[in-house]
Amino acid sequence: MSSVYLRGGGCALLIDMSGTVPAVIHWGRDLGDVAGIPLGVVNPVPHSLYDAPVVTELVPQASTGWRGRPALIGHRPGGTDFSPRFVTADYSQDGGEATIRLLAADEGLELRVTMSMSSGGLLRVRHELTNNSRDGYVLDGLNVVLPVGPAATEVLDLTGRWSREQHPQRHPLNQGTWLREYRHGRTGHDSSVLTMVGTSGFSNRRGEVWATHFGYSGNRSTFVEKTPAAPAMLGSGQLFSPGELELAPGASYRTPWLYAAYSTDGIDGLSAAFHEWIRERPTHPRTPRPVVLNTWEAVYFNHDLDVLRELARAAGRLGVERFVLDDGWFKNRRSDHAGLGDWTVDADVWPAGLDPLIHEVLDQGMEFGLWVEPEMINEDSDVIREHPDWISGPGHRTPVEWRHQQVIDLVNPDAWQHVFSQLDALLSNHRISYLKWDQNRDLVEEGHDGTPSSHRQVEASYRLFDALKRAHPQVEIESCSSGGARVDLGILERTDRVWTSDCNDALERQTIQRWTQALLPPELVGTHVGPTQSHTTGRTHSLSFRAITAIFGHFGIEWDIRGLDDAQSAELQAAVALYKQHRSLLHSGVAVHADLSDDAYLLQGVVSRDRREALYSFVCVRSARDELPGRVPLPGLDPHSRYRVAVVFPTGAMPYEQRNIIPWTVDSVVGSGAFLGEAGLPMPILLPEQGILVHVIEVADSPRGAVDGD
Ligand code: DGJ
Repeated sequence: MSSVYLRGGGCALLIDMSGTVPAVIHWGRDLGDVAGIPLGVVNPVPHSLYDAPVVTELVPQASTGWRGRPALIGHRPGGTDFSPRFVTADYSQDGGEATIRLLAADEGLELRVTMSMSSGGLLRVRHELTNNSRDGYVLDGLNVVLPVGPAATEVLDLTGRWSREQHPQRHPLNQGTWLREYRHGRTGHDSSVLTMVGTSGFSNRRGEVWATHFGYSGNRSTFVEKTPAAPAMLGSGQLFSPGELELAPGASYRTPWLYAAYSTDGIDGLSAAFHEWIRERPTHPRTPRPVVLNTWEAVYFNHDLDVLRELARAAGRLGVERFVLDDGWFKNRRSDHAGLGDWTVDADVWPAGLDPLIHEVLDQGMEFGLWVEPEMINEDSDVIREHPDWISGPGHRTPVEWRHQQVIDLVNPDAWQHVFSQLDALLSNHRISYLKWDQNRDLVEEGHDGTPSSHRQVEASYRLFDALKRAHPQVEIESCSSGGARVDLGILERTDRVWTSDCNDALERQTIQRWTQALLPPELVGTHVGPTQSHTTGRTHSLSFRAITAIFGHFGIEWDIRGLDDAQSAELQAAVALYKQHRSLLHSGVAVHADLSDDAYLLQGVVSRDRREALYSFVCVRSARDELPGRVPLPGLDPHSRYRVAVVFPTGAMPYEQRNIIPWTVDSVVGSGAFLGEAGLPMPILLPEQGILVHVIEVADSPRGAVDGD
């Protein structure tokens, strides 16, 4: 049959290949057997439009009548070949993977579309353009797009700023283009991990939803476009600086992957597809995610061996497993004004090098991790005093400073090699298991030798990660970028977790983590217990609220824990133990979020894949609308099984009135999954910024498979 039909996880993409161009018939619910379905059925021709029917092309192009954003924008240096006409040359499908080759013979261009659908329904699409002409081809943009179903009426995406990443914004899907352009040279604090469109009021667990993510860490656009002639399209493409990309004869350009998911069960269904695919990657971290102690909010730049040793011993006593020495250890780095680029240990502060601290950390049974920021330089550094031309920029001046720093021109092979050699030496000469790889500024006006290089700079960074990973495969790398400004599936091809935000305020983190985890499974999302009074917001939170929030991720501590009193130590130790007890569940199960009518409350959980166990957090984030939270559903359980439910944290009496705690929280209750998921349980009255952790376990004699009335 003349079609490409990719299926998985209850979803399907059907492309009609019977015409001259690939036409997308359907992306949505699985269609079952499509043998014999009518192909080549064309749209009618409306008044005042081309005399040929417009099709919903996989690769939209003006030359066949598409009047929205075309997939390809480019031309020959003189301006010719500005509107290519691609037709299908050949195509093939092997199970869940397909390739379609298109040729624009008159313009000397070839476009290869590669697609795959995972067993869980995650779709990946990318294009590769080859210049088959004897002239160069100036590429201004190549978008990857997918049409969504007609039921979508709302757009939900995320935005933010430093310390407030991934906050939702929603609006109607009207005609026009909802365009997000990210010109940060990095992924960006305002970058939305998902662009979602769906049926009216789609929510955590309800509604039909389509979503995309573009796996790239530099300048790019993401859009939802609705024209009068066609269904809404979701798309993305890299943004190039003027004249940045000219394809030489025979040369090719390949886009990053556009990842896409469809769900009939709201946002949780999208996340399930992404999480499952991400976890299947061969590079996905598979060892238990160690409890981290990061020194940043504990000591900042004030590095002192005795203090840090004491911190390491305190961490060891609490059960911490990885100690990360943050910014401040290298030459002249007493503040953020100097030192970036000189990746050697500061001899004044560390006269005996890092080894005394590393040995202390290892003696405590912890791994040692180190902060670096390899793509950046301070002008006040030896490397820039020696090589002032290694600053990336337009050439005749340096770009505006940001945190007193500039970007090192990694497109320059000598600069790249210098950075690689220094990091390679660090990793070769010390027992370092982990790098926290930071990137603390936007990359603007990037240039190499007077020509724009924003795309090449990202490629060079990726090569640096890849080369270091190859040379030191046992070293894990965290992608940090002043918090969460480099969170995308491009960087996660070469790193092992992200630093989610510089905001360790648990209240803010409830939102930031929830939406970051719409894309990423919790084990990739760094979540730390910060100081009692948040350094970024000034808010004060109980330790239990901070711990409950941090447990739903890759748990760590970022706090000067040397001076904890006995009660604080005991509570933090209990949280560490609880995380260790449940991390295999948290880091392999299915993420769920209840739809609650009062948005003062949030209920999230992780249900084991066999649905025998789950951990939920129920938190209050603002003053509640109603007097009681009422019955709150615990979604995702097997409706037929019976479960025992108990509050497992905080462990002791809650620091507020006992009468708020209802009997089941003390004694535990048993109910069926159907009952718990639909009727739910009455929850305690929580004050704003309080929470509980609820553990649910299948009872031993559970009648699986039988419908269980309760
Ligand atoms: C920004 C990061 O997000 C912080 O966690 C910390 O590492 C600082 N940079 C250090 O300069």
